[in-house]
Amino acid sequence: MSRVFSGVQPTGNIHIGNYLGALKQFVELQNDHDCIYCIVDMHSITVPQDPKELKKHILDVAALYLAVGLDPEKSIVFVQSDVSGHAELAWILMCNSYTGELSRMTQFKQKSKERESAPAGLFTYPILMAADILLYDTNIVPVGNDQKQHIELTRDIAIRVNNTYGETFVVPDGRFLKEGARIMALDDPLSKMSKSAPNAFSRISLLDDAAKVKKSIMRATTDSEGSVRFDPENKPGVSNLLTIYSVFSGIAIADLEKQYDGQGYGALKKDLVEVVQQNLEPIQKRYNEIRNSQELVNILRDGAERAEIIAEKTLARVKDRFGLGL
Ligand code: TYM
Repeated sequence: MSRVFSGVQPTGNIHIGNYLGALKQFVELQNDHDCIYCIVDMHSITVPQDPKELKKHILDVAALYLAVGLDPEKSIVFVQSDVSGHAELAWILMCNSYTGELSRMTQFKQKSKERESAPAGLFTYPILMAADILLYDTNIVPVGNDQKQHIELTRDIAIRVNNTYGETFVVPDGRFLKEGARIMALDDPLSKMSKSAPNAFSRISLLDDAAKVKKSIMRATTDSEGSVRFDPENKPGVSNLLTIYSVFSGIAIADLEKQYDGQGYGALKKDLVEVVQQNLEPIQKRYNEIRNSQELVNILRDGAERAEIIAEKTLARVKDRFGLGL
């Protein structure tokens, strides 16, 4: 069975972009793949975090993983910092990566621009991500489009090490959805929906109540043409709404275009509000049932133990190839 690995940062505000681009894939893959899903808390501290909030967000994301349908009987679910092999492998990979390739990472360029001086961890962030993936002999990495460059770098590092030290790593492939891989901000459809944008109405969080969902969609930026057509280049706002509608409802975009032919954006938005609310309701219900349960903590502890067994095997192999230790 192919091994699947992916992760989400515990930074709060997990939104429908994270869900439609990544989490939904996680759930679909778990039936016929060997899946490992991580809450990547060590990636979060590449920018300052309030320790109390971070701890809370780790459990928030864990509860959301289960609420969207991850089944701990089928998938390993754990917290990154509970398995020390991630940091250990990251160091070894760092010694086999170049500052030049890291400088080209668009996410680093963008995030470092936002602050006066960038922590070194922000620069080496993609290497920790490569370590996450390579530590588990991963074949498939389900992610949104924004992670494409990081996956490419992971592949480059794996191939480089294999060429230098002999077969060491499995070279992974990214898995990107045709629809949903890049959900755009509702207030600015030229930027991707993000957890950190200051305008809360730019995104719909998975835990938003019905009123917030309604307000965000009804306010969403469209255009002045008035016809419901999928044309991301010329009509990015309407196309984004159609994408969200299609992935949540399972109705093809072409069928939605026909359904709303001759109707204004108001009708599309009104129905989309309902579709989103209906999809979020069961997720929120399950989330509330498990968020404060001991069961959640037990699942994460058990997940870390299972992950550690796989990680230790890979690390032993890597250390042997590199001539590290006794
Ligand atoms: P993160 O936490 O920013 O996002 C989690 C997942 O959501 C996807 N995503 C989106 N998909 C569609 N539309 C959007 N607007 C959107 N915004 C985010 C992301 O692509 C991601 O799949 N570096 C990663 C976390 C990570 C990781 C890993 C992922 C660390 N190690 C190993 C895979 C494998 C990140 O910051 O994701």
